[in-house]
Amino acid sequence: MNPLSSSSICSIVIISILVSNSVLLCIGGKTSIYVRKAEKSVEMPLHSDVFQAPSGYNAPQQVHITQGDHIGKAVIVSWVTQDEPRSNTVVYWSENSKEKKKAMGKVYTYKFYNYTSGYIHHCTIRNLEYDTKYYYVVGDRNSMRKFWFTTPPEVGPDVPYTFGIMGDLGQTYASNLTLTHYEKNPLNGQAVLFVGDLSYADNHPNHDNVRWDTWARFVERSVAYQPWIWTAGNHEIDFAPEIGETKPFKPYTHRYHVPYRASQSTAPFWYSIKRASTYIIVLSSYSAYGKYTPQNQWLEQELPKVNRSETPWLIVLMHSPWYNSYSYHYMEGETMRVMYEPWFVEHKVDIVLSGHVHAYERSERISNVAYNIVNGICSPVKDQSAPIYITIGDGGNIEGLANNMTEPQPEYSAYREASFGHAIFDIKNRTHAHYSWHRNHDGYAVEADSMWFFNRFWNPVDESSR
Ligand SMILES: *[C@@H]1O[C@H](CO)[C@@H](O)[C@H](O)[C@H]1NC(C)=O
Ligand SMILES: *[C@@H]1O[C@H](CO)[C@@H](O)[C@H](O)[C@H]1NC(C)=O
Ligand SMILES: *[C@@H]1O[C@H](CO)[C@@H](O)[C@H](O)[C@H]1NC(C)=O
Ligand SMILES: *[C@@H]1O[C@H](CO)[C@@H](O)[C@H](O)[C@H]1NC(C)=O
Ligand SMILES: *[C@@H]1O[C@H](CO)[C@@H](O)[C@H](O)[C@H]1NC(C)=O
Ligand SMILES: [Fe+2]
Repeated sequence: MNPLSSSSICSIVIISILVSNSVLLCIGGKTSIYVRKAEKSVEMPLHSDVFQAPSGYNAPQQVHITQGDHIGKAVIVSWVTQDEPRSNTVVYWSENSKEKKKAMGKVYTYKFYNYTSGYIHHCTIRNLEYDTKYYYVVGDRNSMRKFWFTTPPEVGPDVPYTFGIMGDLGQTYASNLTLTHYEKNPLNGQAVLFVGDLSYADNHPNHDNVRWDTWARFVERSVAYQPWIWTAGNHEIDFAPEIGETKPFKPYTHRYHVPYRASQSTAPFWYSIKRASTYIIVLSSYSAYGKYTPQNQWLEQELPKVNRSETPWLIVLMHSPWYNSYSYHYMEGETMRVMYEPWFVEHKVDIVLSGHVHAYERSERISNVAYNIVNGICSPVKDQSAPIYITIGDGGNIEGLANNMTEPQPEYSAYREASFGHAIFDIKNRTHAHYSWHRNHDGYAVEADSMWFFNRFWNPVDESSR
């Protein structure tokens, strides 16, 4: 090929980028025809079946697991005993060997205004085999309880893996429907990416922390058997100076431990893990992120560490969305977007998952990084190096749906709908992942919104249907 023809190919490419930009500027995305009422969701009463504590003296309750190291060979097992600390041992064995092993944990308690927590146990089980089913038992002779989980396959570029995605769950009847739809989804999520706002205890007088306990009993039926990867939302802050509670995130950090030290993070609010073929970076919308702050420094060093030959899929979780065309929480994510969006484009993040807005939205691949104060270039443009942004704060919490949208629908918004639901990110190999969003109004197998994701490193082709 002579130099002339390669430069003319280049100009064709440039022209087609310009054309697709102008197409993007002319056509808005899709707003679903479904219009839901904006009424509050009803919280399940304290005596509900899903909140019942297990029977037996000091029986372990609120059992939950999450990944316990950077690569998926450890699990943090957490639970609460109400009457006394007693055993903080986890007994576990693999389905293959049956040889019983023990790991010792630690016990924590905290007070919040006039609430005193039960005994909160956290125990990390290490050196597990990949891709293996383990049984584990917590409790003592009085009341033991047995659960199981399956470790992820060894980290590698073509390892299929299926994530569930939920956010802003709370503990209403709608929350219970969302969790049920996730559990019954035939796509079988193996771990949950949770984008923040867990219990909504802070919506109760004095942030009644009993609602942290009920929430943990409610979700035990899933999170005792598969890890949920935690992100801190605004409802985890529990900052209440009016009742003397001035240490942010006190209940959350006591109850939910994450393996942040394994990724050289200095705080549990931002950290990373590898799992199967993914590299997952969790950020905190509610911790300092400006230049020179610990989170900023960490992220700057973190992104170049991602080796796409090892983990092709780069996923970021944060609570507050950067691209959100609902009027609720409009532009709250803007300051963080300005700080970090150029890095996400440079490092070709595949997908950014957020919650906060109680509705669903999926963006096109767009970026807005050209603005430099004086050039006036401040509109999102189509960008094949940019992530797709998903807002999925539609778990069903007490505050109800966000159904008021900015009009007209911005060009960058591909699909939006104010319905409760969850999503599935189903990775097939290094080039392809199937994404689907499932609304609670439909049957368990229905995909209300879906698309094939093409990996930004291995297959950076425009996958948009527009
Ligand atoms: C905490 O205080 C509130 C009122 O301020 C009261 O209704 C509640 O019963 C108290 N709870 C405990 C555990 O003492
Ligand atoms: C919550 O959902 C589960 C599973 O579908 C069901 O068994 C339970 O009765 C529901 N509880 C409430 C309070 O809706
Ligand atoms: C990236 O990962 C691949 C596959 O595991 C490995 O062969 C390669 O050495 C890694 N590159 C770096 C820079 O660590
Ligand atoms: C919807 O949001 C717009 C923009 O924030 C606001 O002007 C309008 O009053 C809102 N409408 C309702 C019904 O809340
Ligand atoms: C990756 O997965 C996609 C979707 O299942 C499939 O079409 C494609 O052939 C796969 N690629 C390889 C190299 O197996
Ligand atoms: Fe939120």
